[in-house]
Amino acid sequence: MKTAVVYKSVTGNTKMIANAIAAALGDECVYLGGAEGAPDCELYLVGSWTDKGVCCDEIKGFLKGLTGKKAAYFATCGYGGAESSEKYYDMLVERARKELPEGCTFLGGFVCQGKMPEAIGERYRQALEKDPGDTRSLQGLELYKDGLSHPDEKDIAEAKAWAAEVLSRAKGL
Ligand SMILES: Cc1cc2nc3c(=O)[nH]c(=O)nc-3n(C[C@H](O)[C@H](O)[C@H](O)COP(=O)(O)O)c2cc1C
Repeated sequence: MKTAVVYKSVTGNTKMIANAIAAALGDECVYLGGAEGAPDCELYLVGSWTDKGVCCDEIKGFLKGLTGKKAAYFATCGYGGAESSEKYYDMLVERARKELPEGCTFLGGFVCQGKMPEAIGERYRQALEKDPGDTRSLQGLELYKDGLSHPDEKDIAEAKAWAAEVLSRAKGL
């Protein structure tokens, strides 16, 4: 099945997942890259970094154009490690799904944590120097530290397994 992996990554986390997904798809992946220049395919695995709780604008626009296609969504985000992560990840997938036009068959989503830029960690550290009891900054710094190892090998293995599942689901339709 002619398949494209279309993604947007600013700091490399989503790119890492996109590369793993393309590898898992093997020869059926005919394109790995940005929205611009993506060829006509039957199946699209579309990925984005998370910006203020949604996919980035470039990917939003791309999702909107997938009339008559099969599509799945993947993302990386700063949130993770907590019990509520799964719920947050489901929400991100659901928000992306809502961007798809009628007549596009949605085949599911995958989200994992990605490290956040150093500047964000530094901002929390500075806030805590001023106010060591600032709980929001304490939680933020914990999240930042937790994210430093992601995407890790487990995330990558799970992304690959998910991509293989999406492909077999698409073939079964
Ligand atoms: C401006 C900005 C906004 C962000 N907004 C969110 C957000 O709303 N939720 C979240 O979980 N992560 C958020 N993040 C974290 C990124 O989505 C995360 O680090 C992601 O893995 C980056 O992907 P990339 O390396 O492919 O660019 C934000 C990061 C930046 C820089």
